[in-house]
Formats: sequence, structure tokens, C-alpha cells
Amino acid sequence: MKLGVNIDHIATLRNARGGIEPNLIEAAKIALKEDILALTMHLREDRRHIKDNDLYEVKKLGAKINLEMAATKEIQQIALDLLPYSVCIVPERRQEVTTEGGLDVFGQKEYLKEFIKPLKEAGILVSMFIDADFKQVEASNYIGADYIELHTGCFSNAFEKGDFKIELEKLKSASKLAQNLGLKVNAGHGLNYENVYLMKEIDGLSELNIGHSIISKSIFVGLENAIKQMLELIK
Ligand code: PXP
Repeated sequence: MKLGVNIDHIATLRNARGGIEPNLIEAAKIALKEDILALTMHLREDRRHIKDNDLYEVKKLGAKINLEMAATKEIQQIALDLLPYSVCIVPERRQEVTTEGGLDVFGQKEYLKEFIKPLKEAGILVSMFIDADFKQVEASNYIGADYIELHTGCFSNAFEKGDFKIELEKLKSASKLAQNLGLKVNAGHGLNYENVYLMKEIDGLSELNIGHSIISKSIFVGLENAIKQMLELIK
């Protein structure tokens, strides 16, 4: 299992003062020294954390970028110009604090099938951020996605309440179906140092994308150590 480190929260903190601290590029450099697969960055429509220029500066470091994006033409153009390693298509609502649920691929499968075509043609790996729902897995396969990223928010919430078994089973079955269909499977959202070990129970997961808990821990132990500790847990 590989790790993608989501660095959006560093940009959120930076933007709180409108200056350059904490420096996103310094953070990216520290992260890239670790054994991670990619840096995950979400270019939101309202640019509340990552800005366009951040993407290009991080790309210049030679980083593999996993670009989280809404399925809009504006962001599609940026993706085609930036040429990240992968894109993860996510739902986006202005008012949400973070991505709150999986994308409804089933409900817009013809649109998404066309939408991802140029991205795939440009050699970008395409992932769909979905709930652990068979209908969404099958729709992701239908539209030609390379990956799904299973939304682990419900699992993480259930873990906090102490009863995660049902949610973990849902993730396992959705992952199994996806892999049987030939999709690769990632997971992310709400994963932390306490619950992440359970992801090892899901066979064949390719990558975990984790942001909030790593950046939170880095306040106390530094980014390098926070990433190292997470890598140790998912080994
Ligand atoms: N994966 C996706 C698609 C996300 O939208 C997010 C949140 O930006 C994450 C992973 C990381 O979630 P968290 O910050 O809770 O680790």
C-alpha cells in the first residue's frame, strides 16, 4: 500500500494570513524525501486552499501530483495543462468544510465518460472518489476510470463510535467488486493514526490518500516524522 500525502491543509493555514507561511513548497520538499507515491492537492473552484500556481511549483519539484478536482471544464483545462500523474474526480460543494460524500458516478455516467476521455488520452490516470456502493463501482468501470478511491469517511466516523465492522465490510466488498472488474482501488478521507491499520484488511488496496491527520500530527512532531509514522503503520 502506497501513501499519497494531501497537503491542502498547509495551504489553508497559509491563506489564513494571506502570506507565504507555512511555505507549501518547503512542505512538498520534505514530503518528497519520504517513500510516498504522490502529493495530493485539491484545486477547488473557490481556490480556498491550493492555488493554481501551487500546482505548477510543486510539479517543478518533480512530484507526482494526484489532483483532486470537480468535473468542471475549467479545472479540466488546468489538468490538461498541468498533466498531473493522476486526477481524482470528487463532488464539490462551496459550503462544505471538506469533501462530504462520494461522487454520484452512476447518475452522470454519460457526462463523466466524455469528461474523462481527454484526461485519459493525455496519459493521466483517472480515479473516481465514490462511496462503497456497488452501483457506483460498476458505473466507474463503465465510464472507463482506471481507479476508484473509496470514501472512508463513514468508516472513520464509525470507528470513532467504536463500531466500524459494517462499514469495513462495505469497503471490502466494494473493493473486491472493483478489482474483479479490473479497477485499481485507493481509499481515503478521515483516515488517521488510530484507524489506518484496518485498511490492511482490505485486499489489494493500491494507495491511501491522507491529509488532515498527517498535517495535524506534524504540528507536534514535524512533517517528516508525521509521514514516517504513517508509513510505518501502513507497511
Ligand atoms: N481523498 C479525497 C478524495 C479527499 O477529498 C480528501 C480530503 O481532501 C482526502 C482523500 C483526504 O482526507 P483527509 O484530509 O480526511 O485525510
